[in-house]
Amino acid sequence: MTDQAGATPPSTLTPHLLASVLAIVAARGGVDFRDYRAATAVRGIEARIRATGCPDATSYLGLLEQRPEEIRPLLEAILVRVTQFFRDPGVWAALQYRVLPSLSAQNTAGSLLRAWSIGTASGEEAWSIAFLLGALGNPFEVLATDVSPTALRLARAGVYPTVATLAVPSDLRQRYLEVDGERTQVRPQLRGQVIFAEHDLMSAQAVPREAVLAAFDLILLRNVLIYLDPRLQRKAFERATQGLVPGGALVLGCAEVIPPEAESLLEPFPRVAPELRIYRRRERA
Ligand SMILES: C[S@@+](CC[C@H](N)C(=O)[O-])C[C@H]1O[C@@H](n2cnc3c(N)ncnc32)[C@H](O)[C@@H]1O
Repeated sequence: MTDQAGATPPSTLTPHLLASVLAIVAARGGVDFRDYRAATAVRGIEARIRATGCPDATSYLGLLEQRPEEIRPLLEAILVRVTQFFRDPGVWAALQYRVLPSLSAQNTAGSLLRAWSIGTASGEEAWSIAFLLGALGNPFEVLATDVSPTALRLARAGVYPTVATLAVPSDLRQRYLEVDGERTQVRPQLRGQVIFAEHDLMSAQAVPREAVLAAFDLILLRNVLIYLDPRLQRKAFERATQGLVPGGALVLGCAEVIPPEAESLLEPFPRVAPELRIYRRRERA
């Protein structure tokens, strides 16, 4: 927002007010953003201050205390849900030609190949990996989780603007997507193999209920760590690494790297360019 002179007015969200708002969100909204990077929370709160017409952060805090129904939109405003089908095409080429064939060859028992998309947002990442796994021909299952119920509703519906699906390779588009003018829908054949579930990666429950007995061949943890402070990042790594079978692959966002202490558990995935941030759980830690 800009004032009449075109400048952004100074923020009224002091560190104390920020802490009070986040304490309310943690207690009543169930998501603890206090160890997220402050800029992520500040941007979301400022957006809600403007949307609710509050003159400043103090009056917004008052509104939040009085109106429990404001918690949800605030939570959604803090979560950044930007995503795309086949986001970072080089990563998906590596998955298609190097990582998935290797995971499939490793799975000599022919059991389900299991993938987990953490922070899946509106589902484009989960559907992208399901398309590749479907084309590979192995039996598979994709678990896709997020803390945002709004994002998960979109993900489950599997309906996207047609223009957003143009990044899907054309053979996969023809096979798995049904174009209806400006809207494109995921065809029914993969729907039983992709499970969407609400799960907070930072909650006491390390893996979602749907996955308690499962170990995953592939975990996608992309563009989530950037919003977390180093302590939460370490926790997220620990959880993702524990969820992998030995030899399983962990895919991070292109701007993210594993911390040095994770190097005893993870190694760069063989024959994949290091800048693609694809790692493999070592057979023996
Ligand atoms: C920027 S999107 C990334 C989407 C997708 N992974 C990609 O790379 O395109 C980040 C997602 O992480 C989710 N997220 C943030 N904190 C989370 C947490 N503690 N547990 C699970 N998901 C979380 C947000 O709701 C959002 O949908």
